[in-house]
Amino acid sequence: MDFSRLVIFVFATVLSPNSVGAQPPNFILLFADDLGFGDLASYGHPSSLTPNLDKLASQGLRFTDFYCTSPVCSPSRAALLTGRYQTRSGVYPGVFYPGSKGGLPLNETTIAEVLKPLGYATAIIGKWHLGLGSDRMFLPTNQGFDHYLGIPYSHDQGPCHNLTCFPPDIKCFGTCDLGVVTVPLMANDTVKQQPVSFPDLEKAYSDFATQFISTSASRKQPFFLYYPSHHTHYPQFAGKGTTGKSLRGPFGDALMEFDGTVGKIMQALQDSGVHNNTFVFFTADNGPELMRMSRGGNSGLLKCGKGTTYEGGMREPAIAYWPGRIARGVTHELASTLDVLPTFAAMAGAPLPKVPLDGFDMRNILFNGGPSERKAMFYYPVDPSEEYGLFAVRVGKYKAHYYTRGSAQSETTPDHDCHIVAFLKYHDPPLLFDLEADPSENYNLATPDHPEYKDVLQLIQDVKKQFEAGMAFGESQVGKGIDPALEPCCNPNCSPKPSCCACS
Ligand SMILES: *[C@@H]1O[C@H](CO)[C@@H](O)[C@H](O)[C@H]1NC(C)=O
Ligand SMILES: *[C@@H]1O[C@H](CO)[C@@H](O)[C@H](O)[C@H]1NC(C)=O
Ligand SMILES: *[C@@H]1O[C@H](CO)[C@@H](O)[C@H](O)[C@H]1NC(C)=O
Ligand SMILES: *[C@@H]1O[C@H](CO)[C@@H](O)[C@H](O)[C@H]1NC(C)=O
Repeated sequence: MDFSRLVIFVFATVLSPNSVGAQPPNFILLFADDLGFGDLASYGHPSSLTPNLDKLASQGLRFTDFYCTSPVCSPSRAALLTGRYQTRSGVYPGVFYPGSKGGLPLNETTIAEVLKPLGYATAIIGKWHLGLGSDRMFLPTNQGFDHYLGIPYSHDQGPCHNLTCFPPDIKCFGTCDLGVVTVPLMANDTVKQQPVSFPDLEKAYSDFATQFISTSASRKQPFFLYYPSHHTHYPQFAGKGTTGKSLRGPFGDALMEFDGTVGKIMQALQDSGVHNNTFVFFTADNGPELMRMSRGGNSGLLKCGKGTTYEGGMREPAIAYWPGRIARGVTHELASTLDVLPTFAAMAGAPLPKVPLDGFDMRNILFNGGPSERKAMFYYPVDPSEEYGLFAVRVGKYKAHYYTRGSAQSETTPDHDCHIVAFLKYHDPPLLFDLEADPSENYNLATPDHPEYKDVLQLIQDVKKQFEAGMAFGESQVGKGIDPALEPCCNPNCSPKPSCCACS
């Protein structure tokens, strides 16, 4: 027997990132929409009913200091899927529209494209929001996903006032966006239903997820399922099973329905026998849309919400779950959606894309209870520019705000700093908060009676300068504009548009 080969083999096994065994792990990535730091029962909400997410939180690892990269949707999703700030991929300013010409550039490498070469089956159900473009070129089926079932953008980006959001026939609240096609349900790159039936949507998703898991498991094929849910985004909706069932009104019912799908996915993992070889990760795209009042979410004790670079806009609940592998508990380590791609890649043994990445491997936090490789978090506004640069920087427990600005999406709470009339304000010296002693960003430390904070500000300034020197802005994709002819229509040649685009 060749002893030297055996030694090498043993070593390779021990050092392999996936030390579980021959079968690479499966990945489930759950991404909630406009869900705030205070919206889950496990993060202190008194009337949210989220038993399945609570179970992941109590049996998994719950993060207290986890960040998305943008206070709005499309940029946040681009960063999650690429491990790069949205400024690099050009997914800014703001979000994509149904007729947007741009999208997440095809030369960006998504998590699906990292895993697929290793033989993974890949699927996305839910909200894409990284563009359609001409010939639907930017859909997930061109970004490494074998399967897509979902609404390709926000489900308020089409008229909704005549649609049913809750059965038997409670109309959606508000009008949503007028003058464009009603929102479609797409299967791969084909419109399957237009407008989508909101009360039936979740069943379609959970049936698809269950089927995908069981098919992949029976083929012994590793899989990656990405479920970016629409639910908690305006207009909230739910099916028969949860309408009127929560304690929290329409938002609570919608959240409860999403939570139910989490339960069905976990059940499918059990039933398919892959439960102990599947890593489940949950987080959300950005803070709550406070302008929707009790129909929006809640950022708990954090300041402001969606659209702002205060903590409430970008700090999110996050849960890592893998029974037997990840110890249950709470971590205060700094981590981000940017870190998901490098972590999945390391766990699967996949090479990283050969581009500048902004994410860090989280395995030391997950498997060793060790410190994070991430030492800083950078806050870009909805409309990042090279001229203004970063609005805020967190290093360790300290956060400095160079610019602050309110947002229409954070209207209605009593804090005036959150509102649209809180115009752009430059701070010199920056506002400085100790996020451990003062997570609500109430007490500015950079004042003349605290000279000792000069050193902290200098350190943050140095980190900021170094980061910005390495940031190359990609061409704005949202800035490429809109062509109504690109809106998805189930009868492409019908007229008059957009109203003729209707198929049940
Ligand atoms: C993608 O292509 C654009 C345009 O050629 C280029 O500027 C950008 O750097 C490329 N991005 C990557 C990740 O290769
Ligand atoms: C989507 O595409 C995949 C593979 O490319 C195919 O297996 C699947 O049947 C398609 N789904 C639909 C609903 O057409
Ligand atoms: C909504 O329904 C009303 C009443 O049924 C109808 O008059 C109106 O045209 C509908 N609007 C749209 C956009 O379908
Ligand atoms: C999963 O559980 C099965 C049986 O319960 C066991 O044989 C297998 O080794 C476990 N796999 C992992 C990755 O723990």
